[in-house]
Amino acid sequence: MSAFAGKTVFVTGAGVGIGFGLCRAFAVAGAAVALNDVDGALAQTAAGKINATLPTPAVTPYAFDVAEVTAVQNAITHFAQQHGRLDIVIANAGITQYGKFLDYTAADFDRVMGVNLRGSYFTAQAAARQMVALGAANSHSPDGRILLMSSVTGVRAFKNLGTYGVSKAGIIHMARVLALELGAYGITVNALCPGAIVTERTVADDPDYAQKWGGVTPDGRAGEVEDIVAATLFLASPAARHITGQTIQVDGGWSLRSPIPEDHPD
Ligand SMILES: NC(=O)c1ccc[n+]([C@@H]2O[C@H](COP(=O)([O-])OP(=O)(O)OC[C@H]3O[C@@H](n4cnc5c(N)ncnc54)[C@H](O)[C@@H]3O)[C@@H](O)[C@H]2O)c1
Repeated sequence: MSAFAGKTVFVTGAGVGIGFGLCRAFAVAGAAVALNDVDGALAQTAAGKINATLPTPAVTPYAFDVAEVTAVQNAITHFAQQHGRLDIVIANAGITQYGKFLDYTAADFDRVMGVNLRGSYFTAQAAARQMVALGAANSHSPDGRILLMSSVTGVRAFKNLGTYGVSKAGIIHMARVLALELGAYGITVNALCPGAIVTERTVADDPDYAQKWGGVTPDGRAGEVEDIVAATLFLASPAARHITGQTIQVDGGWSLRSPIPEDHPD
């Protein structure tokens, strides 16, 4: 499949998990991909792992922290200028920091907001600036796609996950306000809300993660990275050109009632 041949895609927080799956899928579909991670060695290894499976290398690692606005701008500008275009950007990097509201510290609040909310906002801004500038330079309106990674915790309240939930709710509204401003430039902005997804991190936190969350999800299973990848590939495709400012929940129906496993730690 080469549905994204000739396209360029930038994905943040992609050394493992959902972001890594996205980089692999877009590279397999023919795109040139920038793979970011705050862990530089991991970014390098992850890009190498995908490139080893391709006829020609398509993935370039970029090491930076999405909370550092200048680093975000420099990397996105570098990648876009090198290819002379920027088509799809996925602000995927996000961190979870559990804590009771009564004990939560300003430092933890600032870090979660810095990565999840500010990181997504300025990733989107740097991307949109490049899409607009390169579209104008090449005398066409860009067919740009900005995708933001929210979470079901942005639509349903979770105990001890308040700051994360607030940041993810903010991302849903971010998709709406950016869509309004960027529509005129030919750029759509949408958000995805993964439910309980089996990744390296979630399984390391709880080896029975898949079984427990499968037990409380209407379709009877926890999500896989492939489920998020499939929805993202659609929103990034030309077929989704008339969808903007929206949020898709990819959660097997979990948020319809939102039950949590009995022994889930509070
Ligand atoms: N896994 C799930 O069940 C789930 C559910 C809902 C939402 N999400 C959201 O999806 C996204 C990806 O989740 P995941 O579980 O695959 O991620 P993850 O926690 O496994 O992290 C993926 C990568 O992001 C990198 N990263 C962390 N902070 C960063 C930063 N400041 N700058 C750049 N890279 C950074 C990490 O080093 C890691 O390699 C996140 O935004 C997360 O909130 C995940």
